[in-house]
Amino acid sequence: MVIIIGNQKGGAGKSTLTLLLANFLTQVKEIKVTVVDMDYQQSLAQKYEKSKVLENIAPYEVIAAELEHFPVINKLMAEKPKEVLLIDLPGKLDDDGLIPIFKAADLVICPFAYDEFSYESTILFSVVLRQINKSSVIYYVPNRVKANVRYETQQDVNTQLLKIGKLAPPIPDRIDFQRTNTFMTPLAVVPIILSVFEPVYEEIKKMLPAPANR
Ligand SMILES: Nc1ncnc2c1ncn2[C@@H]1O[C@H](COP(=O)(O)OP(=O)(O)OP(=O)(O)O)[C@@H](O)[C@H]1O
Ligand SMILES: [Mg+2]
Repeated sequence: MVIIIGNQKGGAGKSTLTLLLANFLTQVKEIKVTVVDMDYQQSLAQKYEKSKVLENIAPYEVIAAELEHFPVINKLMAEKPKEVLLIDLPGKLDDDGLIPIFKAADLVICPFAYDEFSYESTILFSVVLRQINKSSVIYYVPNRVKANVRYETQQDVNTQLLKIGKLAPPIPDRIDFQRTNTFMTPLAVVPIILSVFEPVYEEIKKMLPAPANR
């Protein structure tokens, strides 16, 4: 199955959530995962190479690829129905290379922040995605939420997003998240990660072959 992590907004937390979800699925749920870094700067692929040197056993692979490579990658994945392809998308919408990726997405993780610009980008991303793929489940993840800030529009934003998809519990703005490297989820963020990803995993379970076949 194909999971994409996307939002048109830069810095929303796509790459961070991609790694955390890859760690969660691999290390907590024992699901086989391949991460595809389609981000411009390909930061994930670079981190992966570094941590491979430091930690030597890699629980999953991170490959760097262009949007144009997706149809072939997806074709090869068809032979591995029990595996999950996690795609970290670039923060852009003006590329036809996205069309087959949006089409193939079974599940969409969309991190966003409670500010005006992030909201607009999130809606734009959702509208474009929905034009191409009507059925995928979208999980909106509020990210970098600051404990001492009152977000004027939070309730309205939640109401609008819930018309399109599901809403995860918020992820706080915490320095620990900046320490997420490829294979290590900082212990301090585990409770937050579980509250966000356990419901996501329930969706994934419905889409993968039964555990007995895994
Ligand atoms: N919950 C959080 N708390 C604190 N820092 C965070 C959190 N989530 C992400 N960050 C930091 O915010 C920055 C942007 O996050 P990230 O790189 O995951 O976003 P992105 O959507 O992949 O960005 P880009 O569009 O540049 O690819 C990073 O420095 C990351 O460490
Ligand atoms: Mg990124």
